[in-house]
Amino acid sequence: MDAFRFYNPTTLYYGKGQIEKHLADEVTKIGKRVLLLYGGGSIKRNGLYDKVVSILQNAGVRLFELSGVEPNPRLSTVHKGIDICRENNVDLILAVGGGSVLDCGKAIAMGVKYDGDVWDIYQRKGKATGALPLGTILTLAATGSEMNSGGVITNWETKEKLGGGSPYTFPVFSFCDPENTYTVPRDQTVYGICDMLAHCFEHYFHPTRHTPLQQHLIEAVMRTIVEHAKTAVENPNDYDARETMMYCSTMALNGMISMGIRGDWACHAIEHEISAIYDIPHGGGLAIVFPHWMEHVKSANPSRFASLAKHVFGVDGGGKTDAELADIAIAQVRAFYQSIGAPQRLADYEIGDEQLERMASQAVRFGEIGNFKKLGKDDVYQILKSAL
Ligand code: NZQ
Ligand code: ZN
Repeated sequence: MDAFRFYNPTTLYYGKGQIEKHLADEVTKIGKRVLLLYGGGSIKRNGLYDKVVSILQNAGVRLFELSGVEPNPRLSTVHKGIDICRENNVDLILAVGGGSVLDCGKAIAMGVKYDGDVWDIYQRKGKATGALPLGTILTLAATGSEMNSGGVITNWETKEKLGGGSPYTFPVFSFCDPENTYTVPRDQTVYGICDMLAHCFEHYFHPTRHTPLQQHLIEAVMRTIVEHAKTAVENPNDYDARETMMYCSTMALNGMISMGIRGDWACHAIEHEISAIYDIPHGGGLAIVFPHWMEHVKSANPSRFASLAKHVFGVDGGGKTDAELADIAIAQVRAFYQSIGAPQRLADYEIGDEQLERMASQAVRFGEIGNFKKLGKDDVYQILKSAL
C-alpha cells in the first residue's frame, strides 16, 4: 500500500433519538448564532425542520435561514450563504439535508474565511484558509459528505461542476438517523445507492500493489449494498434497510476503507461533466457511466474484475479465466442496476451526442483522469459515446 496519513475529526451520532439528546449541546458549545441551511422543502414536509428549530430555539440559539439549496448546489447559493454569515456574524452552519445541502454548507464555510471568490478553491486557483464550523443532519444516504471534507459545486453560468474541499471542511458533527430517510423518494433512494456503490468502485479499481485488507473491506461494503438495496428501495420505512444503506454510504467515502490506496475517480469526473450541463442526478449519471468505463478499462487488470464477480456477486470462478469473469462481473453490475431501476443510458435523460466533445475535453481539463487506467480526452469521448 502507499504511505498515508489518516485524519477525520467528525463526531458521528448514528441512530434514533440522537438529535433530541445531543444536538443542542453540540451546537451551543460552538456558538449561538447559527445559519440553518436546507434544500427545497423536504425537511418542512417531513417534520424535521420543526423538530430542529424547536430544539435550537429552546436552547437559546438565534437562527438565520437559507433555504432552496438546489440538488447539484449552485455557486450563486453559496454566495448568498457567505453574505448571510458575514452580515450576521454567524458562529456555525447547520446543514440539514442530502449531500447537496451539506456540500453547499462546506463551500459557504470556506468562503466566509476566504479573501476572494470561493470558486477559486474549486478551480484550484486558491487554497482554503479556514472555515466556519459546520454541523450536519443527514437526510439522504448517498454521498458520505457527512463524514468527509469534500464537496461539489456547480457554476451554472459557466456550466462547470467541480469538487473541492480542505482539511477545514470536515463536519464538526453529523447526525445520521435512518428514520430521517424514510421520506426519500424511490428514485432518489436508487440514485443514492448507485452513488455509494460508485464510491466503492472508485476505491476498488486502483493500481496500488498489495492491499488485501482494503480489498476485503471494500468488497464487504459492496456486498452489503447489493444484498440490502432492494429492500430499501421497495420498503422505504424498513428501518434496518435504511440504516444499512446509511452506514454503507458513510463508510464508502469517509476514508476508512481506502487508506493507503489511490482510487480511480475517472467516472466521477465524467459524471460531473454530464450533470454540469444537463443537471441530472449524480447517482443516475454514475449508473450510466460505470459499465461503459468498466468495458473500456477491464484489460488493465482483469483479475480485479474477477474478484468483484466472485466476492461481491458470488460467482463461481471455477474453470473460468479472469477475462471471462471480468465480463461476468460487468454483466452482474448491469443486472444490479436494472434490479433497482437505475437508469442505463444517456438517452434515459434525453441526452444526445451534441455535447460529447465538450464534456470529454472538460473532463480532462486538469490533465488525464483515472488511476486504474489513465484516460485522455479520446477515452472519455468513447466511453460517453458508448453510453448514448
Ligand atoms: O431539496 P430537498 O427538498 O431537501 O429535496 C432533496 C432533493 O430534491 C431530496 N431529499 C433529500 N432528503 C430527503 C429528500 N426528499 C425527501 N425526504 C428526504 N429525507 O432529494 C433530492 C436530492 O438531494 P441531494 O442532496 O441533491 O442528493 P445527494 O445526497 O445524492 O447529493 C448529490 C450531490 O452531492 C454531490 C453530487 O455531485 C451532487 O451534487 N457529491 C458529493 C460528494 C461529497 N461531498 O463527498 C461525493 C459525491 O460523489 C457527489 O459528487
Ligand atoms: Zn459520488
